[in-house]
Amino acid sequence: MPVTGTRLAVLASGGGSILESILAAGIEPGVVVADRVCRALTVAGAAAVPAVLVERTTFGPQFDRSAYTRRLIDVLAGRGVDTVAMAGFMTVLAAPMFAAFPDRVINTHPSLLPAFPGAHAVADALAAGVDRTGCTIHLATVEVDHGPVLAQEAVGVEPDDTVESLHERIKAVERRLYPSVIKELCGWT
Ligand code: GRF
Repeated sequence: MPVTGTRLAVLASGGGSILESILAAGIEPGVVVADRVCRALTVAGAAAVPAVLVERTTFGPQFDRSAYTRRLIDVLAGRGVDTVAMAGFMTVLAAPMFAAFPDRVINTHPSLLPAFPGAHAVADALAAGVDRTGCTIHLATVEVDHGPVLAQEAVGVEPDDTVESLHERIKAVERRLYPSVIKELCGWT
């Protein structure tokens, strides 16, 4: 029996494999939003989940983060969303996002936070020569990758790991852990 999440939104920017794991866990988000054309939109479409592109066209210093955040909030509010799960969403959102959905924006990050925040967490862990890294699911706040931790799991670094091989093993954990945290947060367990 699918868990109908008409008030859950999933935000994505990329391959959408974390989104796939959320869907495979029987969670039906009310909407998937992407900030760029990406496979995640196709994944949503194939699952008959409404998919909306709130396109970000500027990536340089001219990017108006506040205006983009307002556009996104309007789309989410217009669909009655009350919980937001970021799943590989690569746009940093401005403060109004976290005021609009207090303690209801979550994120999965491919490191054991507070170690290796930022967009290159797997490469940074590899470059640092750590023997284990992992993933963190946390409440998202205006300070990127710093919110309260909801779940963490370690992944060992192998001597011959590349960024791709290590990230794939971390994602395998995220695909198991993130859906279960979402279900718990939404009271669907
Ligand atoms: C995940 O590792 C997530 O933690 C990070 O981006 C990746 C998303 O993977 N923020 P995918 O696009 O869902 O395959």
